[in-house]
Amino acid sequence: MPCPGRLIFLASVAALPISIAAAAHRDAADRSPIYGVRLPPGYRDWKVIGVAHEKGDLNSIRVILGNRTAIQAFRRGQRPFPDGTVIARVAWKYVASPRNNAIFGQEQSFVTGDPTNVQVSAKDTVKYPGTGGWGYGQFIAGKANPDVDTLRTCYACHNRLPSSEDRVFTAYAP
Ligand code: HEC
Repeated sequence: MPCPGRLIFLASVAALPISIAAAAHRDAADRSPIYGVRLPPGYRDWKVIGVAHEKGDLNSIRVILGNRTAIQAFRRGQRPFPDGTVIARVAWKYVASPRNNAIFGQEQSFVTGDPTNVQVSAKDTVKYPGTGGWGYGQFIAGKANPDVDTLRTCYACHNRLPSSEDRVFTAYAP
């Protein structure tokens, strides 16, 4: 009669490659294509750089948040941004608030609706020498958007700014 402890041990060793493969798969799903950028832990607690509203088809409202390195660089007006800068742009549908408007007595209140996506720009000149030192990611419901074509548009558009702006659109809102 084999010892039950040994059986459990053998069973868990046999399951190991499966759990490693599952973890690797999960990891790939967490990272953006091309750049391998992840949704930064704790980004929802970062400080506000600015706010933006896109009309037209997007019709969204966004808050642009920065990690400590980003905020410091924005406040000092430091360009190019140093390695370690991470900027997260969080967007929601821009919707009228019937509840607020009923209280105001007129159509004037617009608020965040459903979340759309989170976009991330991360500066690392060693990792991303071909894109001005910036890596990009887009996340929908916490998962990296795997669409390579979408990810190619990020640098193409941000790189249209004059080089003095280091490919960042948002100005610090004091
Ligand atoms: C056609 C141009 C265009 C494309 C494509 C684009 N962006 Fe942007 N991005 C902007 C503009 C303009 C802003 C500032 C206004 C706003 O936030 O809506 C911005 C803002 C940002 C910000 C806030 C910091 C900053 O640079 O102002 C991040 C982060 C960001 N984009 C990441 C991305 C990522 C990631 C992608 C690709 C998935 C992407 N962007 C694609 C034009 C673009």
